[in-house]
Amino acid sequence: MLDQFLDQCTYVSGVYDQDSGFQALEKELQRVEAETKTVDRLYYMALPPSVFIPVANGLKKNCYTTRGVNRLIVEKPFGMDLESSRTLSKALGALYREDEIYRIDHYLGKEMVKNIMILRFTNQIFGSCWDKEHISNVQITFKEKIGTEGRGGYFDEFGIMRDVMQNHLFQILSLIAMEAPATLSAEDIRNAKVDVLRKIPPVVESEVLLGQYGKSEDGSLPSYLDDDTVPKGSKTATFAAAAFHIHHPRWEGVPFVLKCGKALDQQKVEIRIQFKDLGNNLFQKDVAARNELVIRVQPEEAVYLKMTQKLPGLGMETVMSELDLSYHSRFPNMSVPDAYENLILDAIMGEQSNFVRSDELDEAWRIFTPVLHKIDRGLVPVEIYPYGSRGPKHLPEFVSRFGFERHSQAYSWPATSQT
Ligand code: BG6
Repeated sequence: MLDQFLDQCTYVSGVYDQDSGFQALEKELQRVEAETKTVDRLYYMALPPSVFIPVANGLKKNCYTTRGVNRLIVEKPFGMDLESSRTLSKALGALYREDEIYRIDHYLGKEMVKNIMILRFTNQIFGSCWDKEHISNVQITFKEKIGTEGRGGYFDEFGIMRDVMQNHLFQILSLIAMEAPATLSAEDIRNAKVDVLRKIPPVVESEVLLGQYGKSEDGSLPSYLDDDTVPKGSKTATFAAAAFHIHHPRWEGVPFVLKCGKALDQQKVEIRIQFKDLGNNLFQKDVAARNELVIRVQPEEAVYLKMTQKLPGLGMETVMSELDLSYHSRFPNMSVPDAYENLILDAIMGEQSNFVRSDELDEAWRIFTPVLHKIDRGLVPVEIYPYGSRGPKHLPEFVSRFGFERHSQAYSWPATSQT
């Protein structure tokens, strides 16, 4: 099968800003298309943003078919801030229509991210308590165990907030917070996402916590600054936590805390919806035991609901346990497709709902740009944390400021014992 696929691949080389390479590509495409009925074209631009426009231009001028559809997949980063993103969008918009542009955010192709809308909108039990009356706070967490390890050049220019939070985690936030779309069409889904983003004011510096990893406690793992590809003395953050507030009747007063970091103690991405305290708890007067719905995006995809049960035995003691849907045990013979597998198929099929529309991008940059500019000017402190730790030492205080309560009963999710 792989051989069959490879037999159909050809390679044409060229220079980003010269017509000759694009003309050679056009010739090759016409040769291939002479043997097939379909002449739809999908161009995947996995390129540095500095050459997006010259390449999009070369493709439009030399390789735009009039016999079928033309689609262009664009990889992030889509700019550095609101202004540069708008410049890019305007230049791209002058060449291609919005329905031809597929801005990829691979988190939208992850199985559990695609599951969010289904969980929310097909289960009465969640739909009815998905609001400020029941939910205290929402935590969206991205943790990586490795540091930049040789990717410091790209990373240092962007920092963790631009690399992961403004795109991947923010897409998750909009799926958790949006209202039900009118239909499942790409435009309705993206309208619903933009609507909720418009209700979020820009993040403020006093609600941001930044960190950069130093050496591990035992000195065996390198600091960010030890990476040869990182500029000397860089203040770029490799960890960020920030709080977002949504001024919508459903969410007024419910903070959304987004956290992401490299060189931490665990590898995981999860969404944690923490419910409010029970008004009158007959059994556990002095124990914080809030329900939590956890959507484990990766690894070990799962959805589990933390809840209080009776501890088996003669007494009436309680214990924190869970309703657990772990994918590997519930769907043992199913393989979870890779995010890119999902998204490239969508692009081939012309399905745009899991791609970022330009107004969505614009809203995300509006929310992040003021604080990013302050960070770029060195106005937001960056705390050093040890490689392999949970992050900056002020993190527990930061999350509790936004209502998050750690369970006072020892609890760990049995599937990994990592929570
Ligand atoms: C990329 C970031 O977009 O996402 C990386 O540039 C990050 O820094 C990666 O490591 C995480 O993707 P995944 O699919 O491994 O969670």
